[in-house]
Amino acid sequence: MSLSADRPDIIHHLPPDHLGRSLRADVRAGLTASPKTLPPKWFYDKLGSELFERITDLPEYYPTRAEREVLALFAAEMAAASPADTLIELGSGSSRKTPLLLDALGQAGPLRRYVAVDVSDSALLDARSELAPAFPDLELQAVAADFETQLHLLPRTGRRMVAFLGGTIGNFEPAARARFLSDVRELLGEDGGSLLLGTDLVKSPHVLVPAYADAEGVTADFNRNVLRVLNAELGADFDVMAFEHVAVWMPQEEWIEMRLRASRPMLVRLPGVEMDIRFHEGEELRTEISAKFRLEGVVEEMEEAGFSAVGQWTDRQNRYAMTLAEAS
Ligand code: SAH
Ligand code: TRP
Repeated sequence: MSLSADRPDIIHHLPPDHLGRSLRADVRAGLTASPKTLPPKWFYDKLGSELFERITDLPEYYPTRAEREVLALFAAEMAAASPADTLIELGSGSSRKTPLLLDALGQAGPLRRYVAVDVSDSALLDARSELAPAFPDLELQAVAADFETQLHLLPRTGRRMVAFLGGTIGNFEPAARARFLSDVRELLGEDGGSLLLGTDLVKSPHVLVPAYADAEGVTADFNRNVLRVLNAELGADFDVMAFEHVAVWMPQEEWIEMRLRASRPMLVRLPGVEMDIRFHEGEELRTEISAKFRLEGVVEEMEEAGFSAVGQWTDRQNRYAMTLAEAS
């Protein structure tokens, strides 16, 4: 564990050149693939985290409100079913829904610590300044780490509940998702503990697609932000506005795909990776998937990874589910 000098409030596990080396490797692999892809974690610089927060307030983007409703209705039941002294939240972002869970866990038993884990420093710092005054007796840890590769560095003591909210699990490909669930199971070890998982549910594309292609264009701006990150970090010269935001429902895979479509032929220079990349007109770069789930499927995948489901709750309109499972 290293405490970074410039960010004394954050426990830094990301390697110092994370934004350099790891981004460069992802860009080299993704932009030479066919079709071209980029992994979603690079959306979340300061502007990206702010744009995501705006998405959560959009009329079309129901998942955040639906998840908040599930927590408001059932967090007490969840906490009673699985009391914990430590809440570890992965991809915590602004932690705006977390107080519902912290309050419930505090009622169910002694709660000592909240560990927020995210790649975004700015989100971690904002969350901390919101939570600290509201929870003066709670030990708050802000951990900058990659939940795909660094779960083994998180706290291994105490009775832990791991929360993974926001439907972020849907942003993994199926194989990476299985690996991730096994890694969480491994983090919980032999002392028990639980995983609380938020998943958006399969529903009509008439509801799903607008959630990822809002009328105001905030999602489009968010999607294009990944190109701004490449411009800033790799000295690339993407003409960001020449890429059109596309959100498609894939009925076979049951996921939404986010893409950026080149509106004209382009040659993009990326000095940071010593590459020039050509796009033909209409070519699409895939930036994110957001898988949607079925209730039984979530339980199956968690059990596959070594968990036993103890409860599952949905919002009143059955749009969104939260599943609680014990490490068995
Ligand atoms: N949990 C919040 C935020 C969801 S957005 C909510 O429900 O609203 C996804 C969050 O995961 C962002 O804050 C992003 O910075 C973070 N994230 C994305 N990829 C990550 C990774 N590989 N490791 C850690 N955090 C990641
Ligand atoms: N985890 C969020 C989701 O899948 C992330 C997200 C929301 C997102 N809107 C987006 C990612 C638009 C890329 C583009 O719902």
